[in-house]
This record gives sequence, structure tokens and C-alpha cells, in this order.
Amino acid sequence: MSAGARVRRRRRTGLALAVVVLAVAIVVSFAKQRETLRGPAAKPLPGPALRTLAKDDHILLGTALRDEPLRDEPGYRKDIVREFAAVTPENAMKWDAVEPERGTFKWGGADRAVDFAAEHGLKVRGHTLVWHAQLPGWLTDGNFERTGLLHLMTGHIRREMGRYKGRVPTWDVVNEAVADDGSLRQSLWGKELGPGFIAAAFTAARKADPKARLAINEIGAESIGPKSDTLLRIVRKLKQRGLVDEVGFQAHFNLNGVPKTMESNLKRFAKLGVDIAITEADVALPDKAGPEALQAQAKVYARLVRTCRAVPRCKALTVWGFTDRASWIPHNQPGFGRATLLDDQLAPKPAYRAFQDALRGS
Ligand code: XIL
Repeated sequence: MSAGARVRRRRRTGLALAVVVLAVAIVVSFAKQRETLRGPAAKPLPGPALRTLAKDDHILLGTALRDEPLRDEPGYRKDIVREFAAVTPENAMKWDAVEPERGTFKWGGADRAVDFAAEHGLKVRGHTLVWHAQLPGWLTDGNFERTGLLHLMTGHIRREMGRYKGRVPTWDVVNEAVADDGSLRQSLWGKELGPGFIAAAFTAARKADPKARLAINEIGAESIGPKSDTLLRIVRKLKQRGLVDEVGFQAHFNLNGVPKTMESNLKRFAKLGVDIAITEADVALPDKAGPEALQAQAKVYARLVRTCRAVPRCKALTVWGFTDRASWIPHNQPGFGRATLLDDQLAPKPAYRAFQDALRGS
């Protein structure tokens, strides 16, 4: 072989080798990416599924459902189907998600949630039609006058409830209408439309899907105080007009625990003839707290379950995420986290066991 031929051959071999190395690198990086896309596998969980134990207590057990892991993570999906009987789309049904531009509708996430629920026989809690947050910019910056705004609100209710008529049995119609001091929250709705916006929203909702159960949902109204007093008055009036069926208490807690007056508070609402739901339960831990905080957290979850069991009309309990890998706390409350029942690898935390025991009544 001539020297020239040898050089050419070496070059060809070198080139072939480089191609092989590159191909391997591409395959490996693709597999890695796919691995993170697919999330951790579901872990075996001890004892009977939470939904089964809750059912024995006549409690519908639900979780917030996040769109990204719903799409990408089989382990996440598997745990939901195993442990829960209901889902609340965490963000996918909010106004900014479904109508980001005026008249341009994006139902992808909401449809995915409702289809997933239907496929697995889970109930859906529609969340949420009229709220001050996660509104699209065109709405908040639109300077709409009263009548225009009222029409936009009722139109939104009609459209969203209409789309899922017969498939979403319960809706959070109005969310967080009351301020902490017991006054009407000065939201876009409260400010522009006054307190009448609440009944107007419920009236529109009743019309849009007469068979749906309608809920008013509130944050930080778990204890007896100015906020829950106002909520009680609102619910009494709505109930007299046949407009409300259920009151949702979000129950976003931390290590301060379940308020002492929560049980008696829920009972005074139940007396009005409405059902009670715990709609967004979680227990945030400070990042700096050690592992003993997990035991304290377990106690808070157990106490919450017991509180719902102690109120005969407390018929639904939803956790705001069931795994630390899909919880709003670290992002929305910096310095806090680990707020759910399973860790970020889907392994059970002490809270999971405590939740189970409390559902069993032990
Ligand atoms: C939260 C979501 O969990 C977050 O992902 C989002 O960034 C903000 O909203 N009260 C409610 C819920 O009614 O819709 C909120 O959900 C938490 C507080």
C-alpha cells in the first residue's frame, strides 16, 4: 500500500470512529433527557390506598393535578390513579390559561385533565372561575366599565362551564372573595362590581350547568374570625337563594398547625345546609428545619383529616399536590417546601402514614 493510500485509510477510520462516538453521545444524552422527562418511578406505598380509606369515611379524596408531570411522568400519573378519587387542575382552568388573549382560547391543559380523569374514573373539581389572580393582562389592564366587565365575567363562566358540562361535577365558582380583615377583597371584581359580583357569578354558573355543584372557596378562613364571619354571611345569603352547594376551605397550613376553632367553624357553615370541602391542603416546612419537622408535619395532616371526619358534611378533602416534586410552595413561598405527603422521588413521608392512620380513625 502506498503511503498516500495509508494516510487516506487512516483518515477514513478516524472519521468513522468520530461518527460512532458522536452517535453514541447523542443516544446517551437523549436517553438522559428522556429519563428526566419521565420522572421517578412510582414507589410501593404501604397499606390500602388513601382513596379507599377515605371512601369508607364518605370522604372524596382528591389532589391538585399539574399539567407538566401529567404529560411527562408516568410515575406521577400512576400514583394519582392509585391514591386519589378526584383531581383539581392546579392551573389549567384559570382564566389566564384558557383565554390568554381576548377571544383566543387554549383548552389544551384543561382538556387533558378532564380526559385523564374520565379515563380513570376520577371526579374533577373545576378550579376556578372568578378569582383575582392569574387573570390575563388584557382583562386586568382593559379598563372595562361595569357592565362590560360583568358581561365578561358571566360570559367566561358560561363558556368554561359549558365546555365541560356533565363532566365536571363541582366548580369553585368564586375564589378568595374576602380580605383577611373581613371586608370584601379589593380585587378587579370587588372594586369594579361591588359585593354583588358574587351572586351574579353564582347565578350565571347555575344557569350554565344546572346539575353542577357550586362552591365558594376561601383561603385562610379555617378559624373563627372576621374573615370566616363574613364568608358565613355571604354563604347564608347565597344559600337562601339556592345558589351555593358547598364551601371550600383551602387549608394551606404550616407547622403552626390546624387552628383550634376549625372544627366548630366548619360546623357552623354545615348548619347552613351546605357541604364542606377541604380543597387545597398542604403543610409547608421551613427549608432550614431538620428532619424532625417531618414528624410535626405528619401530626398536622392527621389533625386535618380528623377535623374533616368530625364534621359529617365534610365530604371532600383535596391535597394541593401529593408529591414535593409538584408543589407550589417552594416557588410561591421561598424558604418553605416539603409540604406534601410524598417526597420528590415519590417515596412516602411520615405524613403519608399519619394520613392513612387518621383516615382509619386510629
Ligand atoms: C397556585 C398554584 O398552585 C401555583 O402553581 C400558581 O403559581 C399560583 O396558584 N389558592 C388557590 C390556588 O385557589 O389556585 C393557588 O394555586 C394557591 C392558592
